[in-house]
Amino acid sequence: MDLKSRILSLLRTSEEYVSGQELCDGFGVSRTAVWKAVNLLKEEGYEIEAVKNKGYKLMSYPDSIAKSEIASRLHTKWMGKELHYLDETGSTNNDVKRLAEEGSIPGTIVVADCQSSGKGRRGRAWQSPPGTSISFSILLKPDIAPDNAPMITLLMAMAVADAIRKTCGLEAQIKWPNDVVVNGKKVCGILTEMSLESDYIHYVVVGTGINVNQESIPEELKETATSLSIEKGRKIVRADVLEHTIAAFEEYYETFMKTADLSMLADEYNEILVSRDKEVKVLDPKGEFSGISRGINKKGELLVELKDHSVRNIYAGEVSVRGLYGYV
Ligand code: BTN
Repeated sequence: MDLKSRILSLLRTSEEYVSGQELCDGFGVSRTAVWKAVNLLKEEGYEIEAVKNKGYKLMSYPDSIAKSEIASRLHTKWMGKELHYLDETGSTNNDVKRLAEEGSIPGTIVVADCQSSGKGRRGRAWQSPPGTSISFSILLKPDIAPDNAPMITLLMAMAVADAIRKTCGLEAQIKWPNDVVVNGKKVCGILTEMSLESDYIHYVVVGTGINVNQESIPEELKETATSLSIEKGRKIVRADVLEHTIAAFEEYYETFMKTADLSMLADEYNEILVSRDKEVKVLDPKGEFSGISRGINKKGELLVELKDHSVRNIYAGEVSVRGLYGYV
């Protein structure tokens, strides 16, 4: 963690003024270094009061997801130890791919305030407007069979749902396989991309977009998408959501890696599955059919019970599942 993040972390948790001396001694740096770091934070929008003989106090902070803000909050074991932030980029998934090729370590994260050509699934575009959304991608190098890698997307959906519940108190659910929904509308999309070398995984990039503080949703998406602030009726601190998502994802990922499947996590996933025990329509290119969604198995496949009580396992991919009435 750099000095700015360490100072921020301390000031955020202190009710009282923190003396310059305490900061110098604590971090083993000079007063000038502290003063410079505080000024840089001020330039980023942090309101820090400096009072003679008392020290520094954080009075207010911007809704930032920049590097110092996120680094100062992360207490993960390895996730996000290499952290990059961009005010604007094309796609954070592409940035992480580039870093992977350059030899970055697993757990490397790229966060962006906005994306100019964000990618969605199935070649669709993803909107990441500035100042209101979260876009980030994580680099992973799991030693598992390539067939098992798509399950990592489900772990991220669980992590985002967990973070939303904890930080906003909203009832977040999952629309199989990996859309996170609140009140029946999508607030988060996840795009996982993989680089294979013959039969083993070179690396995986998990990219996540969350609609946080958008006040309105583009007309063509209004029926199916929303933002956390619209659902909550107040602004949400983006860094809270991102911090909790990364922390939860590290835990889910470590649990997943113990078995390379979802045997220890499927029950928890199914508890927040929006279609659980409801009738769904499976849009299979080979032919649509309906049935009752019975949740996922340990491979992440959705089990759909047909009228004759036989069960079909649905693989994510080209197949999509809809509720009988509308998107979920
Ligand atoms: C979807 O639901 O279609 C998936 C959307 C994934 C969007 C995220 S935003 C961060 C990362 N960078 C991208 O270009 N896409 C993913």
